[in-house]
Amino acid sequence: MALGKTESRHGMWSSRWLFVLAAAGSAVGLGNIWKFPYIAGENGGGAFVIIYLVCVAIVGIPIMMAETLLGREGRNSPINTMRMLTQQSRSSGFWVVIGWMGVLAGFLILSYYGVIAGWALFYIFEMATGTFDAVTPDIANQTFNNFLANPWLMLLCQTLFMGLTVYIVGKGVIKGLETAIRWFMPLLFVLLIVLLVYGMNSGGFQQGLDFMFRMNWESIDADAWLIAMGQAFFTLSLGMGAIMAYGAYVPGDTSITSTIATIAILDTVVAVASGLAIFPVVFANGLEPGQGPGLMFVTVPLAFGQLPLGALFGTVFFVLVSFAAITSAISLTEPALAYLVEEYNAKRARVAKSLGVLCWLLGIGTVLSFNVLADFKVFDRTIFEFVDHISQNIMLPLGGLLIAVFCAYVLPKAVVKSQLGIENSALWWLWKLLIAVVAPLGVLVVFIVTVFPCAQTLSCFGA
Ligand code: TRP
Repeated sequence: MALGKTESRHGMWSSRWLFVLAAAGSAVGLGNIWKFPYIAGENGGGAFVIIYLVCVAIVGIPIMMAETLLGREGRNSPINTMRMLTQQSRSSGFWVVIGWMGVLAGFLILSYYGVIAGWALFYIFEMATGTFDAVTPDIANQTFNNFLANPWLMLLCQTLFMGLTVYIVGKGVIKGLETAIRWFMPLLFVLLIVLLVYGMNSGGFQQGLDFMFRMNWESIDADAWLIAMGQAFFTLSLGMGAIMAYGAYVPGDTSITSTIATIAILDTVVAVASGLAIFPVVFANGLEPGQGPGLMFVTVPLAFGQLPLGALFGTVFFVLVSFAAITSAISLTEPALAYLVEEYNAKRARVAKSLGVLCWLLGIGTVLSFNVLADFKVFDRTIFEFVDHISQNIMLPLGGLLIAVFCAYVLPKAVVKSQLGIENSALWWLWKLLIAVVAPLGVLVVFIVTVFPCAQTLSCFGA
């Protein structure tokens, strides 16, 4: 097949709706279901939810649109897309770094994402076998700690998750991704609704609502803005080319603006709904909303274990989390996979296996950082925390910043205009303002403060 501008050699989404499902599948993952509810609660509930929405709207959506349009213009893997676009616009080859850094970031993220998703797989089994039926908080805690202390079991779960991901990814865009997403995403929404209804009847719904939507603005400081911005990046899968890779398979007549808005809204709805499903169950049982891994892997099983039909609904919950994680993991591999297929004409399934093994190997570091190597620190962080920090706090914002700058200042205006098809001049100027000023500046602030935390207190400068 000739490499035209209208098609990608990797295949095409058979409709606009499949791109929405695929990109939403990438966006919705552990970031929404596990992370969002607890950080929203920790950072002032409703006030935090609002600033997170602002970040999604003014930084997330413009950069997501930019990634999609770059992908569709290039119709190749992010690396080759960037190569093509720099040649086309006669600009420096430096910008191809967006593609390379993205491949590396995706690789690092997937290495630990597979481990955490493996925990969810293990909890399907634990819930289904009734481990948490009427347990006490102590026993729920103990179960989680015992699991963390068992590297072999964790490794097994990580292997299972990575194996599933590699299998689906190897089938190719049309056969693998579409089938997986066609079934997983709608099912995920159904399960979420089931859980929401369950939460509403659990007796703790009002308290859950209060917890998530208290308007205590006084708890919003610079850090909360940073956390909200970081969350917007991670949750929308931005900054590493995942959306750019998926954008390459979008039919030419699909409207990028309305499609991306739909995806961002879907992602946000899932995050908020996850909180609304989780917290009532927590409060119905007089439990404290925990922190980090504690919330999902201790409190939720404990809460479900105490409620009627809890084992069933708890099992459903972790099936949902695992589905969401798989559709995210698939997108994390796509930039590297598409590149290797283009460069070496390799078979998708074989490349998927090799990539999977490499990620799996690197993930062993994360597995061990929760037990055997818990005391081994790299720059004061465990292996897991280090990999997480480098990829999420440094590489993603930097990637997003470069994407925004490339799109706003390097790519010819005519290309952007024809890709976006924005006719209305007010809308065009809004887009220009967001992509050329607001988004890069916002990301720059996040990036500087995350990389140089001392800048916040000016302690770098001896103040
Ligand atoms: N967005 C996913 C989540 O919320 C994770 C994810 C998938 C991701 N692809 C990504 C994060 C690319 C950053 C970049 O869990």
